[in-house]
Amino acid sequence: MEKQQLEELLKDMSLQEKVDQMLQITGRFYQMDINSVLTGPALQMGLIESDINMAGSILGTYGAKELKQIQKTYMEQHPHHIPMLFMMDIIHGMKTIFPMPLAMGASFEPELVRRCAQASAKEAAYSGLHVTFSPMVDLVRDARWGRVMESTGEDPYLNSRMAEAQVRGFQGESMSEEGRVCACVKHFAGYGAAVAGREYSAAELSERTLRQYYFPAYKAGIDAGAGMVMTAFNTIDNIPATANRWLMRDILRGEMGFGGVLISDFSAILETVVHGYAEDKKDAAKKAVEAGVDIDMMTGCYSENLAELVEQGIVPESLVDECVWRILDLKNKLGLFDNPYKDADEAKAEEVILCREHRALAREAAGKSCVLLKNENILPLNKEKKIAFIGPYTYCKKIISNWSVAGESKDCVSVKEAADEIFDSIHTSYHAGSQMTGRKVRFEGFSAFGKAAEPDDEEWGEEKERKELEEAVRAAKEAEIVVLSVGESYLHSGEACSRAFLDIPEVQMNLFRRIAEVNPNIVVVLFNGRPLDIREISAKSKALLVAWMPGTEGGHGIVDVLTGKVNPSGKLPMSFPYCVGQCPVFYNELSTGRPYREGDTNRYFSKYLDIPNKPLYPFGYGLSYSEFEISPVKLNKNSFCEGDVITASVTVKNTGEFPGTEVIQLYVQDVAASVARPVKELKGFEKVTLRESEEAVVSFRIDETMLSFIRADGTVGCEPGLFRIWVGNSSETSNMAEFWLTK
Ligand code: GLC
Repeated sequence: MEKQQLEELLKDMSLQEKVDQMLQITGRFYQMDINSVLTGPALQMGLIESDINMAGSILGTYGAKELKQIQKTYMEQHPHHIPMLFMMDIIHGMKTIFPMPLAMGASFEPELVRRCAQASAKEAAYSGLHVTFSPMVDLVRDARWGRVMESTGEDPYLNSRMAEAQVRGFQGESMSEEGRVCACVKHFAGYGAAVAGREYSAAELSERTLRQYYFPAYKAGIDAGAGMVMTAFNTIDNIPATANRWLMRDILRGEMGFGGVLISDFSAILETVVHGYAEDKKDAAKKAVEAGVDIDMMTGCYSENLAELVEQGIVPESLVDECVWRILDLKNKLGLFDNPYKDADEAKAEEVILCREHRALAREAAGKSCVLLKNENILPLNKEKKIAFIGPYTYCKKIISNWSVAGESKDCVSVKEAADEIFDSIHTSYHAGSQMTGRKVRFEGFSAFGKAAEPDDEEWGEEKERKELEEAVRAAKEAEIVVLSVGESYLHSGEACSRAFLDIPEVQMNLFRRIAEVNPNIVVVLFNGRPLDIREISAKSKALLVAWMPGTEGGHGIVDVLTGKVNPSGKLPMSFPYCVGQCPVFYNELSTGRPYREGDTNRYFSKYLDIPNKPLYPFGYGLSYSEFEISPVKLNKNSFCEGDVITASVTVKNTGEFPGTEVIQLYVQDVAASVARPVKELKGFEKVTLRESEEAVVSFRIDETMLSFIRADGTVGCEPGLFRIWVGNSSETSNMAEFWLTK
């Protein structure tokens, strides 16, 4: 539809029609008996039947046939036949589930992430969907927070590259293209900074920290063209983000230039009352619309109060028009006024969902996101050896994370299923050994999107527990190598999954200890939604591979790595803390006035009495089966002025026996500036694949943009002075050079 037609449409809409467009309800209301909805959840939300029938968008329902029917009914009823928007959380896949986002961050391969988002968009679009509530680009530093699994990690630069890659994958050049959906950057802003890692708690951030670390990835997603942004649950400077005019108008709309739709998170407008910021639902509606929130997800604040606020002259109708314009504009960008069904197509959905190509991509992604933390010459596995695959994750197919709304574990490939394809039954045995969490642990209230979460453990009695354990220990004793697949349950991470301890479930640690007593040759495959406390398994295993929640093709991806078909190249996108007491821990920290150096005997340094400062495994770290020699970093000059560039180069040589891929990382430190700057910051990375004995030069261009930051006076730019750069294969590289930036 032409812009002028859209303007005429808006002009012709009644106030009630406009307010209807600003309401989002769950699509489940259309699957339930309307009376049960009206007397149940709708009543609780303050919604009446016309709200249900006229809401401008729904969330959480998918399926070409179903959504075409809903759209048809809706448009017949609608006075102006405006199409409805269909939205859903496709966080890391629709039906083909890719590794969780934190795992995808570990790939350090934005192009891979883009391809996975593109495949997810196709499956979603043919299933009738228009918008995905993804990418989540919240920077994370505290492994106690359950949603670290949804982020790509602790670094602004890596998160920015991954944010733009996902937006481009979902939206393509234009979201109206076939097989594309609108991306929604979330959660604006600072949600990952929840105090103490406790879900939904406040984010206590200085404006400088917010701007320097947290804003860049949102901006990258918006600059990549994201059509939607979602508000965050937390407060910023004691004002709920969802009603925070500074955040939403000055920053998001003003500085970042976002002109798309701003949707609240689930019930977040109503929660401004609970935060103690809005007096009541009417006040909440007023404050949220003044902050420019266009869509009220799942509360009646707007539908009950906006029309009255306008009629009473408290809220100018122009504010409502502004919101509705953005909603109509998004529907138009998706092409819905020309084709309200967009790509909804049962046959195409059937063809593309879990198709061979998507499974192959999921397998590639699973292999590339694994991070090898330790390997004492035991990997890749020698298939001639007698190997026992032990642990609950040997068989478990629930490896698609808590944020896989439409994904199904039945479609997943387990470690055993994948290993069975490679290892012969003579040399190989398989044993669960323990349950995932054991009898005493139950996950209550984990129904997600209307379906009860699949429990991890079927009912084992004491007798079966003992028998399984003994059988596993016996097998371990007889084996030459044990591959022990353990980790936290998929239900342990995700929304509302903060944990005060980062332990692997006790039943599994008991299994691990019993195995370690009879066989030292243990390869641990770790399944995790977050960095865990892995001190013990790291100390007592010969190899340790982090597999995260690897997705539908997880088993294949992992076995590809274990057998050497895929040479691991993943790097940690988030530090693994020494223990939970170290959280939050991150590499790009400030020096402090008394930085502790290993070996300092004086105690008046920034350190703990009882644990080291360093994480167990640092950001950017990950091993390969190859050995890579990285030459001392060379600069083409040791000073440069603004407007000029300086080049830093290293020669990387594969001195190992396997072709492999290394992630060369560039870190920069501004040694002295008008504000204290981090001890180092990632400013570039490049994956380089080399055959045995092959070498290549990797160079990075450094200019003043790369050195810019938010200066003491609040302006953005660089300052002359001494800089250090490091180029290596982890944030702890010592391969350093210095240069001066002159005026
Ligand atoms: C949830 C999440 C958000 C998600 C939304 C819709 O509470 O915070 O990330 O997109 O609700 O499911």
